Amino acid sequence: MAIEATGLVKRFGDMTAVAGVDLAVKAGSVTAVLGPNGAGKTTMVRMLTTLSQPDTGTITVAGFDVVADPTEVRRRIGYAAQDATVDELLTGRENLIMIGELHHLGRVRAKERAAVLLTQFSLDDAAERVVGKYSGGMRRRLDLAATLVATPEVLFLDEPTTGLDPRARNELWEVLDTLVDSGVTILLTTQYLEEAERLADHILVVDHGRIIASGSARELKRRIGGEQIRAVLRDRSRADDALRLISEATGGEAAFDADADAVVVATAGGAAAVAAVAGALAEAGIEVDELALRAATLDEVFLELTGHSADAAIEEPV
Ligand SMILES: Nc1ncnc2c1ncn2[C@@H]1O[C@H](COP(=O)(O)OP(=O)(O)O)[C@@H](O)[C@H]1O
Ligand SMILES: [Mg+2]
Repeated sequence: MAIEATGLVKRFGDMTAVAGVDLAVKAGSVTAVLGPNGAGKTTMVRMLTTLSQPDTGTITVAGFDVVADPTEVRRRIGYAAQDATVDELLTGRENLIMIGELHHLGRVRAKERAAVLLTQFSLDDAAERVVGKYSGGMRRRLDLAATLVATPEVLFLDEPTTGLDPRARNELWEVLDTLVDSGVTILLTTQYLEEAERLADHILVVDHGRIIASGSARELKRRIGGEQIRAVLRDRSRADDALRLISEATGGEAAFDADADAVVVATAGGAAAVAAVAGALAEAGIEVDELALRAATLDEVFLELTGHSADAAIEEPV
C-alpha cells in the first residue's frame, strides 16, 4: 500500500470536516476522491500530505508515518494544491528551476529537470513567459509539473481540473495518462464523476467527511441503475401511451418529466434498449424530438447514495 489511513478525524471548532475515514491505496494505482464542495476532500489531502495533523487516526504514506516522520513523507510525495502555488511573477521555467533548487537538485540538475518537464507538459512555448500571463489550463499543467520536479512516488492532486474549460481539461487528462503509465501512485480529488471514471481505478465517494461508497466507476453506476433513456415527445398528449410502451420495452419503470415533455427510464440495456424503445414508439406512431441514452451524472449518484443532490450538500448544515 502506498497510502494507508485509519480512523481519520479532523474538526474545526464545532464542525467535523473529516468524520472517520479509512483508506488504502495500492502502489501504482490511481484513486479518485469524489465529492461536492465542502465534503472534506481538501482537509483529507492536507492530512495525507503532512500539512495538517489529524485529531485522531493514523496515516502511512510511502511506508512512513505522516505524524512521526513528516520529513521522510515529504521527500517521497508531490502535492498540487487546489489553488495554484507557483509564483506569478516568475516564468514557467524559473518556477520549475526554483523548485528543483528547493529540493536540493543543484542548479544544473534543476535546469535539466525543468526542461524535461516543460516539454512533457507542452509548455515549451510558454516557458519564458511569466506565469501571471498563463491561461488556467497552462497554470494547472505547470502546477502538475512542479509537483513532479523531485520525482515523487506518490502524487496528490486536489481538484486538478476544476475551473478549466473542456479543452484544457482534456489536455490535462492526457498528461495525467502519461503519468499513470509511468507507475506513480496518484490520489486525486474531483467533483466530476466523468473525471474520476476517466482517470481512476478506484473511486471513493465522500460526503460530509465520510466515505459513503467506493468501487470502480462501473460498480458505482451499476449501483444506481446505470444509464438512462430519455425520449422527448413531440406531442405530449401521447405521454400515457409512451410511458406504458417504454416501460414494457425496457422492463423498467418510466417516469414523465412534464417540464421537458420527456419520458425517462433507468436501464442497464444499453443501445439494445434504445433500439427496443425506438421500435415500440415507431410502431405506435409516437414521434420524438430526441431519443438518447445518457450516463448517470455525479448528481444522480449523490441523490441515490445520500438522498440529497450534490448542490444541496453545500447548503445543508453538517
Ligand atoms: N481551516 C478551516 N477552518 C474551518 N473550517 C474549515 C477549514 N478548512 C475547511 N473547513 C470546513 O470543512 C469542511 C470541508 O472543507 P474542505 O475539506 O475544504 O472540503 P472540499 O475540499 O471537499 O470542498 C467545509 O465545511 C469547510 O468549510
Ligand atoms: Mg477542496
